[in-house]
Amino acid sequence: MTWPRALLMLHVFAVYGSDAATYVFDDSAGLGRTFDGIGGLSAGASSKLLVNYPDEQRSQILDYLFKPKFGASLKILKVEIGGDVQSTDGTEASHMHNSWDENYQRGYEWWLMVEAKKRNPDIKLYGLPWGFPGWIAAAPQDPYVDPQQTATYIVKWVQGAKMHYNLTIDIVGIWNERYYNATYVKSLIQTLRKVLDVNNLGHVSVAAADGTWDIADGMLEDADLAAAVTYIGAHYPSTVTTDAALKTGKQLWASEDYSTFNDNSGGGCWARIINQNYVNGHMTSTIAWNLITSYYENLPYPRNGLMTANEPWSGNYTVESPIWMSAHTTQFTEIGWLYLRHGNGVGHLQSGGSYVSLVSPDKKDLTIVIETLTQEHSKCNKPLDPYNVSAAQITIQLKGSFVSITQLQPWHSKPGFGSADRDIYFEKRQPLKVTNGQVTLNVGVDEVWTLTTVSTGNKGSYPPPPPSKTFPLPYQDDFEGYAVSMEPNNFAQQLGSFEIVAEGNNKFIRQMVLQQPLAWWPNAEPKLGRSFSVIGDHSWTNISIKVDARITPVNGTSGVFLAARADKAGIALYDTGGVFFYVSPDNSSYILSSDLSKTQVVSTGPVKWRKGWNTIELRILGEMVFGFVDGVEVVATRAPTEPTNGFAGLGTTNWGLADFDNLYIT
Ligand SMILES: *[C@@H]1O[C@H](CO)[C@@H](O)[C@H](O)[C@H]1NC(C)=O
Ligand SMILES: *[C@@H]1O[C@H](CO)[C@@H](O)[C@H](O)[C@H]1NC(C)=O
Ligand SMILES: *[C@@H]1O[C@H](CO)[C@@H](O)[C@H](O)[C@H]1NC(C)=O
Ligand SMILES: *[C@@H]1O[C@H](CO)[C@@H](O)[C@H](O)[C@H]1NC(C)=O
Ligand SMILES: *[C@@H]1O[C@H](CO)[C@@H](O)[C@H](O)[C@H]1NC(C)=O
Ligand SMILES: *[C@@H]1O[C@H](CO)[C@@H](O)[C@H](O)[C@H]1NC(C)=O
Repeated sequence: MTWPRALLMLHVFAVYGSDAATYVFDDSAGLGRTFDGIGGLSAGASSKLLVNYPDEQRSQILDYLFKPKFGASLKILKVEIGGDVQSTDGTEASHMHNSWDENYQRGYEWWLMVEAKKRNPDIKLYGLPWGFPGWIAAAPQDPYVDPQQTATYIVKWVQGAKMHYNLTIDIVGIWNERYYNATYVKSLIQTLRKVLDVNNLGHVSVAAADGTWDIADGMLEDADLAAAVTYIGAHYPSTVTTDAALKTGKQLWASEDYSTFNDNSGGGCWARIINQNYVNGHMTSTIAWNLITSYYENLPYPRNGLMTANEPWSGNYTVESPIWMSAHTTQFTEIGWLYLRHGNGVGHLQSGGSYVSLVSPDKKDLTIVIETLTQEHSKCNKPLDPYNVSAAQITIQLKGSFVSITQLQPWHSKPGFGSADRDIYFEKRQPLKVTNGQVTLNVGVDEVWTLTTVSTGNKGSYPPPPPSKTFPLPYQDDFEGYAVSMEPNNFAQQLGSFEIVAEGNNKFIRQMVLQQPLAWWPNAEPKLGRSFSVIGDHSWTNISIKVDARITPVNGTSGVFLAARADKAGIALYDTGGVFFYVSPDNSSYILSSDLSKTQVVSTGPVKWRKGWNTIELRILGEMVFGFVDGVEVVATRAPTEPTNGFAGLGTTNWGLADFDNLYIT
């Protein structure tokens, strides 16, 4: 061997690595499972700030998520069935706050489903409760106790979607991520199936149990339970399933997954699990929490969405890496396509990474998705066993129905991880000629490739959105501009539920929850026994929040409060600090506290409270904090030294109705 040749070899190795392997893509021996689609999950109040974006940007954002052949082209929209409970980054309103109440105008999930359907009439809709309003079951609070009542509550939501929005719900679940209790889960699932069927909702499938794979064991022992469940949905399965789940023969879903910061590595996580959930776990659908980061940056799980849009006041948004990683699969497949079999188009690359192939039911179209994400650049929210990836020359050998394919269209992503690296996302490459069913592709490290016969791929784009801005101050809202039952803009409710109520010519917000709801997760629903909603900018230090407040004569709360520098919210709410000005008309007194739970009392004293509306104000200036009722200064004292900054907010001292109007923050 002469020197130049040796150098050439080294060069080849450096670029393409030392790995070269042939992979066969063949349907002759049969096909794998049916593909059920890739989706996004709007839950835990994760879409709260999307609804009041300016129309133009809001429409663009929705296109990036749902419009076919544009961006993520999602095929499933899963939403929370609001239960008035803290479900991660806030509470979502129930359609039945009380047993005597029914309302299908609340919150934003109805609106989101309508917008998704407008863009993609074939998108599947999936609803799941995180928790339930308190009336759902007798003490001890548990929706399993009266399955008929719980199932009826869920089915009313399905019927409400049809009646009020002409939305067909395709899938419902029972209770998010609750402990698996065979007896009670079985009884709720079977009752739900029955209530759906007697209401002519036989087309609505049940997915369960939206937690672990444990339900599969129950299904193997119990044919009735197995018959009631269409999809076994597990959360954050780390790409693997169980033997029992496989044995059921049911379709297996990662019915909630991802939950990872949406930078380039987050996109890497998403690309890897979209592929490997099938390769390792035979899962035919993967659904990302969350669909979109439309919650304040300082709430739990910041930027865990497929894209980011949490500045409705500026209109700024960011199309993040996971949007394009979704497109690699979603733009070239449809629900009902079939995976090829493991070893014949599905598997791990010898050099690290994975590949899947999907074929249209008529076998005319083939889509292959290859990913070579390294462990370092595709970490999700759980530890990942170590593995190595190297660049490789991949020879694709098409057989069976695919031998006559003469050309494949490549789409390429290579997120930049070094400072000088450019991000390559979803770029169309020169078509690859296939000769005698064979084609070779050089795949680098940290890349995603789609090779497809589908010619309609498209990287959608809009002009850049407006620049980012801080939350505008002074901020005011008289709540006249809303439809009744809507949630007020920019208020991220954390406990309880606040909605627009009209009385004569006046509109205002009312806290609606009358009793402790049934928690999603024990720590997520602190037994604070009060409502609380936050607004604004977590960096606020010197701030005044002023509002008119009224305790309703019927079912009223015993008091109201204002908050500033509230440092925590979401599922971290239980030890929220800040400055809290509680006013209690009952005993004409106030309590100033440095925590939400009112255990760190700073000052107490008398107040005068008139019947009807009273103006209350909490003002913090440097080291001093002031409280006012109807313009009268009732407290002036030193502010707690910690926390130094946080959200503003308001709430009720306990469960019960209270009204708020004419908000002014400066
Ligand atoms: C309701 O939706 C269906 C499609 O699911 C459509 O065919 C029908 O026209 C819609 N009805 C109305 C009143 O919009
Ligand atoms: C199942 O749940 C019910 C109701 O909460 C409870 O009474 C029962 O002890 C639970 N069983 C198991 C095995 O956890
Ligand atoms: C990855 O490669 C390194 C360096 O060759 C080696 O030390 C390590 O054991 C490999 N890890 C795995 C999981 O193969
Ligand atoms: C939108 O905000 C993000 C985050 O602050 C920023 O990176 C981006 O440049 C902004 N977009 C525009 C068009 O200013
Ligand atoms: C107050 O609560 C009672 C039940 O305790 C209920 O019947 C009534 O409708 C409620 N009124 C309002 C305004 O919530
Ligand atoms: C808050 O107000 C005090 C008193 O006016 C001032 O000294 C301090 O700099 C202000 N802090 C901020 C962050 O603006």
